[in-house]
Amino acid sequence: MKPSNKGRKSAVAAIKVQDGWMTVETTVNGARQSWKIRPDDFLLDALRREGFKGAKKGCETGDCGSCAVLLDGKAVASCLLLAAQSQDREITTIEGLGTPSEPHPLQEAFVDTGGIQCGFCIPGMILSAKALLDRTPSPTEAEIRRALDGVLCRCTGYVKQVQAVKLAAERKK
Ligand code: FES
Ligand code: FES
Repeated sequence: MKPSNKGRKSAVAAIKVQDGWMTVETTVNGARQSWKIRPDDFLLDALRREGFKGAKKGCETGDCGSCAVLLDGKAVASCLLLAAQSQDREITTIEGLGTPSEPHPLQEAFVDTGGIQCGFCIPGMILSAKALLDRTPSPTEAEIRRALDGVLCRCTGYVKQVQAVKLAAERKK
């Protein structure tokens, strides 16, 4: 789960800086956002400041995956990306997936299998699983494990979370 900024230099370079502040235009969960940020703000901090607290602050070094969000459909560590790099891109956070009364099938499957314990890693797990199922609707167990391997869980043995992704894939058929 590495952030990719390929081909995005011109979009970032076009952002104006005034008195040390930048205005970034991005899309989060389908809604256009205009953020005032400092050039050295990380995407994770900007998201949390704007109320998207599902992205969790763990290691801040790209190692735990608890800050994962989807950037143009790919799971990335938001603690490693500058907020400015989200200019003109589509971000999906866990808040964009479902609601308590209408959960996303992956959220439902994580609950049904007991894959959720303290919940800290779960937004990263579910978003990584979503990126996988969007491109590979019937993944093998190895593919599921590979998709989740960037997200560390302090509570579980990962078995139930792998079961949850399998269950969500089955239910989608
Ligand atoms: S907080 Fe980003 S990978 Fe750990
Ligand atoms: S459920 Fe607690 S860290 Fe994963």
